[in-house]
Parts: sequence; C-alpha cells; structure tokens
Amino acid sequence: MSNSHYTGLINKYRERLPVSDSTRVISLNEGNTPMIELKNLPAQLGWKQQIFCKFEGLNPTGSFKDRGMTMAVTKAVEAGAKAIICASTGNTSAAAAAYAARAGIKSFVLIPDGKIALGKLSQAMMHGATVIQIRGNFDDGMRLVQELSSSMPLNLVNSINPYRLQGQKTISFEVIEALGDAPDYHVMPVGNAGNISAHWIGYSEAAGKPCGSCNLCDGTCAYPGSKLSTKRPKLVGYQASGAAPFLRESMVDQPETVATAIRIGHPVSWDLAWAAQKESGGWFEECSDDEILSAQKLLAKCEGIFCEPASAITIAGLCKDIAEGRFKENSKIVCTLTGHGLKDPDTAIAQSDAPVLVNAERDEIGAIISQHL
Ligand code: F0G
Repeated sequence: MSNSHYTGLINKYRERLPVSDSTRVISLNEGNTPMIELKNLPAQLGWKQQIFCKFEGLNPTGSFKDRGMTMAVTKAVEAGAKAIICASTGNTSAAAAAYAARAGIKSFVLIPDGKIALGKLSQAMMHGATVIQIRGNFDDGMRLVQELSSSMPLNLVNSINPYRLQGQKTISFEVIEALGDAPDYHVMPVGNAGNISAHWIGYSEAAGKPCGSCNLCDGTCAYPGSKLSTKRPKLVGYQASGAAPFLRESMVDQPETVATAIRIGHPVSWDLAWAAQKESGGWFEECSDDEILSAQKLLAKCEGIFCEPASAITIAGLCKDIAEGRFKENSKIVCTLTGHGLKDPDTAIAQSDAPVLVNAERDEIGAIISQHL
C-alpha cells in the first residue's frame, strides 16, 4: 500500500507555482476542499441552474486564506524573513499566525478594534501572534502595515503580496478538476478584492490565456503549464451594501456591515478586480445585511452547510440574481464559501432561537419533543 497522502497545494501544483526543488514548503495541507452540490435549495426555490459550493471553510484554519498564506510564508522564509505582518478583518490574521507558527517565525497582526469575529481572534492569539488592535478600520490597518513593512524587517503577507494570489489561484484548478471543465459562472464575496483577482489568474492560466492580470509576470505567463479547461467562467462579485466600493465605483470611507470579514472600503486589488469582472463578462452586485443573514441561515438549515456571513453573501446574491434572470438556465454556477460559520459564533447565536431550558425530567423533555415532531 502506498503511503502517499495529500500534502498541500504547493506540492500538488508545484509546476504552476513559483517554487523550486530546494524551496522549503511551509504547509498545513491546505486546499483540496470539497465541492458540494446544492440539492435542497434549488428544488425549494425552483432554480434551474446546477449550483456547487466550494467550501473553503474546510481549510486548516477555516478559510480560503490558507491557500495564499502557504505561498506567502513559504516565500518569506525562502527570502530569510524572521517575521511577517498583516492587517486583517480576522481570517488573514488567523492564517498568518498559524503558518508563522508552522515556520517558526514571528507574526504581527493589526486588527480593527472590536470588529473581528471571536473565533478568528482566538486563532491569532492561540498561534502566538502579537495581536495589535487599532482604533481604526481595516483600511487604516492596511495603510499602516505597508508603511511599517517598508521601514522594519517585516515581510508583508496581505494580498498585495503577489505570492498570496498565486496560492489562491489554485482554487480554480480544483474546480476545473472536479467539474471536468470551467463552470459557466463563479460567484464570490469581494472585500479587499484579492480573491476574485486570484480566481481570474487561475482560470486564465488553466484556459491557456495570456494572463493580463497575473501580478507576477509581464503578460507572458511564467507558469503556463498545460491547458486544463476549454473556457473561462463569468466572475460575479458580491459586496455588502454598506461596504460596496465596486458598486459605487469609488472608495468608501466608513464601511459598515455585519459581515465583518468584508468590512472594507479601500480594496487594494482595485484594478485587478475590475479587470477580472470586465474580461470575464461578469458583474458586481450588492446585498443588505438582512439578506446576508437570511441566506446564512437558509444554507445552514436547508443544506447542512454552515459558512460565515461574508461567505453567505454569495447565496444572498444568487437568490437576487437568479430571480432577476441574470444567470442562464441549465448553467453551472460555482459559489466560493470563503470561511466557516464557526469563525463567528456570536452572529450565529444572535440570530437563532435560544435553547429551551427545562428540568432534567423525562416528561418535560418529552412534551417539547412532541411539540416539534
Ligand atoms: N470572505 C471572507 C471570509 C474573508 O475573510 C474575506 C477577506 C473575503 C471573503 C474577501 O476576500 O478580501 O480577497 O476580496 N478577508 C480579509 C482578512 C480581508 O483580513 O481576513 P478578498
């Protein structure tokens, strides 16, 4: 029997990534996440499309950030870095802290005071990051880490670091492998806009298209590999109404949304994300906080998939855009569910009914069960 097991996305896609045989790979066996076809929601809502969720919440730290962080930390270590830094709405800080721990280097994370989900904060703390809460939002943090990393011995691991997007592009390869070709549409949340840009780099590379938006080379792709797909999907990006610079077509100074992961008004991958939307023929749409929370509950109750609010915006967006007839019938849609619901237990509990409290007696409990059977 072979003992070869899955060892992470760098080893799997090494010929398409900027690593060499001598690179020490820092990995927690991220990637290889499940594609789950929605069965109940489409039947219930009369949807004519085939919908698959790529559940990125099942990465080692519970979000898609691990894909980019394995590459960024691998390259930081290769360059001799002893410390990394990032600004974060939570998930990037969790991933940075975990991969720095794995590499044996220091991590510093800047987070907006009070606006980060508890699970994410606990991860950064447990993995030994120096957690710095700033009196400001993510955009302030992003500006500060750029300043700090240019004057101190710190390797910046936000998605402005091109290696992050290189790691994140591998989601497109996995989707193509699962479906046999690219889907017709791929929908996802948009915050700092690195992920939609990375999806486009991956799909372009897979289809053998010149990577006009690849941020590591000059347009003659450095990692062409062999063709994996015959086409590229339309990319659709969803933003929370209170933090929707792509809908307003300009930066937003005071972003606000219950989906704290995407509470961002000044996305750093602004140009790359516009290019991804335009080249793919997709679009941006916005959803309200109420729509986001209803969709989170709907997905959890109808399909057994618990994702965080920022991820649930994809389901909220689908509800809206399918009703408007924006997706062709009988098409294949892939939905990136970026983070696990367990990241943000407070928001989940706040919108659910409290458990009933009874005496530890058979009859009392039996009566409640009878009511609900
Ligand atoms: N979904 C989740 C769960 C996220 O954590 C993020 C971003 C996004 C979507 C948006 O992705 O920024 O590439 O457009 N979180 C970052 C963080 C900003 O710090 O964890 P994006």
